[in-house]
Amino acid sequence: MWKGKNVTVFVTGGIAAFKAATLVRLFVKAGANVEVAMTKSACEFITPLTFQVLTKNKVHTDTFDEDEADRVQHIHLADKTDVAVVVPATANTIAKLANGIADNFVTSTLLATTAPIYVAPAMNEHMWENPATVRNVVQLKADGKVIIEPATGFLAEGYNGKGRLPEPEEIFEQVTFFESRRLYGSPLKGKSVLITAGGTKERIDPVRYISNDSSGKMGYALAKAASILGAEVQLVSTTKQLKVPFGVNVTYVESAREMEEVVTAQFPTTDVAVMVAAVSDYYVANRSDQKIKKQHNESGLKLELAENPDILKGLGHSKKEGQVVIGFAAETERVLEYAAAKLEKKKADAIIANDVSSSKIGFNADNHQVTILTKDGKQLPLPENSKDELALEIWKSLLDANIIQ
Ligand code: CTP
Repeated sequence: MWKGKNVTVFVTGGIAAFKAATLVRLFVKAGANVEVAMTKSACEFITPLTFQVLTKNKVHTDTFDEDEADRVQHIHLADKTDVAVVVPATANTIAKLANGIADNFVTSTLLATTAPIYVAPAMNEHMWENPATVRNVVQLKADGKVIIEPATGFLAEGYNGKGRLPEPEEIFEQVTFFESRRLYGSPLKGKSVLITAGGTKERIDPVRYISNDSSGKMGYALAKAASILGAEVQLVSTTKQLKVPFGVNVTYVESAREMEEVVTAQFPTTDVAVMVAAVSDYYVANRSDQKIKKQHNESGLKLELAENPDILKGLGHSKKEGQVVIGFAAETERVLEYAAAKLEKKKADAIIANDVSSSKIGFNADNHQVTILTKDGKQLPLPENSKDELALEIWKSLLDANIIQ
């Protein structure tokens, strides 16, 4: 998404200016060509040289530093910018932007650009709550700028409050989210999507369990993609290791039976349910409430396994309100044949088949390759891709094939 894009980061004078360096690195790492413009006050907090080294581009600080006769620097930069990010945005710069003031390189370029502008404010809590700032922020939103809300936390003043600049990773995620939405549109707007993710854990005793290799990454990628495409997303997850995507609500569960309970409760208000979780087929019927001690006998330890509910099958057979039910089939052999059997048996509208026999595209890999089988007999192969890109392609294919309408 960022390869070859011209991202301009505008740094204004606040103590959080140092965080802009990490944000710049994230954009550079993602393949963007990054330029930086700074106000004079910003240069008091961090040097232009830092950004020059990170971006390998000259840093702009002075409107009258016109060293190339064939162009006006701030207009040239405004025109070439694809995405503008103001980070940190001080109350002063926000006030200028809200009122169309152009009195330095940063504000002149921002007034001149037609690119989308993201504003990440950072300031003292009382400055953030001041009616003048509140008014200016409302004005910026009305003008179409995207505000990255400040976080609540420990401020430079030594107390907790709202006004902290969110972490650079969070800013990067939000900008990427809104830019992806601009690119892909919101075809899932108005839809409520329910997704399960991760391998269930079936307890043997309080400290031991049976589980599987599923990382949950594909479920999280589908949740993130659905959120970008405009859906309301409910994620039911067994893992707390992955970052919850922007805009997604999550409920954590552990076992298959807990997962079934949450999914069943949420299903009536769901439009599309995608069961990505690798659900254990069995749970331990003779689970112990206390840690099991080593058995010093000949016969060892016997675990009694009882069958778990099949959540997907339950939904497929019970859908009454026109819900769309989609499953996954992770197979190591005869992938399409087994997936087709699951589509039929579970009465799903589509099954997404993936071959987990290869470590390159399997359970824990970053890349995936899948084929979507639809209830009307279509087979839609999607090429190997990162899980994030593939997730967007899966939603696109489900919409194109009219599985989701
Ligand atoms: N699934 C489920 N509940 C279960 C088992 C599976 O909801 N108890 C869902 C999975 O989330 C997935 C699909 O069913 O969407 C297929 O899961 P899989 O484990 O491949 O299917 P099983 O029916 O368990 O078949 P088998 O283990 O024999 O391959």
